[in-house]
Amino acid sequence: MRFVRLEFKHLSQMAEIEREAFEMPWTENMFIPEVEDPSATYVVGVRGEEVICYGGFHKVLDEAHITNIAVKSTERGRGIGGFLLAELISRARNLGVERMTLEVRDGNVPAIKLYESFGFKVEGVRKKYYDNKFDALIMWLTL
Ligand SMILES: CC(C)(COP(=O)(O)OP(=O)(O)OC[C@H]1O[C@@H](n2cnc3c(N)ncnc32)[C@H](O)[C@@H]1OP(=O)(O)O)[C@@H](O)C(=O)NCCC(=O)NCCS
Repeated sequence: MRFVRLEFKHLSQMAEIEREAFEMPWTENMFIPEVEDPSATYVVGVRGEEVICYGGFHKVLDEAHITNIAVKSTERGRGIGGFLLAELISRARNLGVERMTLEVRDGNVPAIKLYESFGFKVEGVRKKYYDNKFDALIMWLTL
């Protein structure tokens, strides 16, 4: 697998991964503005033409807000998520980012464990953020 920058040709496979990963998935149309947004950094892990994972963040001043992280369901649990997050952190560092943040659904154990293993800490909670049912944990990492 290698990391490439986000292109329009990746979006339909990403939307498919979103649908299998989330109850409220991003659609292909929601990703379109991200492709050319100068404040957005996205990486896509590909094997040939197959999209294996993707992740992205928006940089605002010296902070990066991670918007998406997902690994294709058949590829999970073998270190790819860690690889992806390390790549995003490294890119953020190169852009002068000092703090990274993200929201994760309370109870999403694989994701929370992944973030904690990189040093992210829960610093806040948005009650009933997802579908008016599930809380969102707000996690931060100081680089
Ligand atoms: C969260 C996600 C990106 C992790 O990707 P992955 O490739 O499976 O993760 P990795 O194999 O790199 O595992 C990294 C760490 O996460 C944890 N982890 C992964 N899968 C886990 C599971 N099923 N249960 C518990 N912990 C798990 C482990 O702590 C692991 O560290 P270890 O290797 O030291 O055990 C992936 O599960 C996914 O795409 N989920 C659906 C989308 C999603 O929830 N995205 C996050 C939105 S905030």
